[in-house]
Amino acid sequence: MKVLNYGSLNIDNVYSVDHFVRGGETLSSAKMEIFSGGKGLNQSIALAKSGAEVWHAGAVGESDGEFLLDMMRQAGVNVSLVAHTSGKTGHAIIQRDREGQNCILLYGGANQEITREQVDQAMEHFEEGDFLILQNEINEIAYIMETAHRKGMKIVLNPSPMDEKIAGYPLEYVDYFLLNEIEAGDICGCEGSGEELLEKLSARFPGAKIVLTLGGDGSMYKDGDLVLKQPIYRVPVVDTTAAGDTFTGFFIGGLMRGEEPATALDHAAKAAAIAVSRAGAAPSIPDRKEIE
Ligand code: RIB
Repeated sequence: MKVLNYGSLNIDNVYSVDHFVRGGETLSSAKMEIFSGGKGLNQSIALAKSGAEVWHAGAVGESDGEFLLDMMRQAGVNVSLVAHTSGKTGHAIIQRDREGQNCILLYGGANQEITREQVDQAMEHFEEGDFLILQNEINEIAYIMETAHRKGMKIVLNPSPMDEKIAGYPLEYVDYFLLNEIEAGDICGCEGSGEELLEKLSARFPGAKIVLTLGGDGSMYKDGDLVLKQPIYRVPVVDTTAAGDTFTGFFIGGLMRGEEPATALDHAAKAAAIAVSRAGAAPSIPDRKEIE
């Protein structure tokens, strides 16, 4: 069984600031660093480091994205399905404050130039029972979901960053949702506590398993009558970027290796804790030995 991650690849430009810049303000930053990132790339690296056989599909610019592919190759990700476009690789402008919190501005670039022909070619490598993971930083997501569903692949959706396009995706095909409270509320058009959101989302998508992340309150998992709670592991925070992506990669990677959901959740929480204790997106992701 293998996993196809059809997702974004970004160059993360990270600026260290005292506070996030406000409207009309000009702010100096103390440090500027460049990391490999993108929710898709981060999740692929986390999946590979958790031990899964990962293929990444997506797109980078012809001249500026090669270091992202090198980083994925080093982690063991198959990048043969990543296309090169004539435009620029996607990038993110990330402000990181003293507490390690961030705010992110995205430029889609090549991530928004996926073609249906590319999707059809990529899908030829996968079969029933393989996993597909998607976030919301590329185009053609509905088409990718339709194609994967016809093949009988298991569809995992991390609807992040949330926007109006999500409502147009065939969400009834999703086997696993991994999402936070805001995303859950937007998808089911409801509000409430973690328990209430889980109930409502699962009533709307009865066939889906749901992982709801609750920031400092940990995460919850629901599959029918089975409900699990997973606290976070508290560590000194350096940079929260990619913590959610690390969690997603280790949770799905764990399930693919046959772990019970409770074990996969625990390993995912440990991996995310290690990621927030280090700087950067992809470079902060631990491997399985560190988790163990
Ligand atoms: O989830 C973190 C990621 O979001 C960053 O690496 C950035 O590129 C954005 O996609």
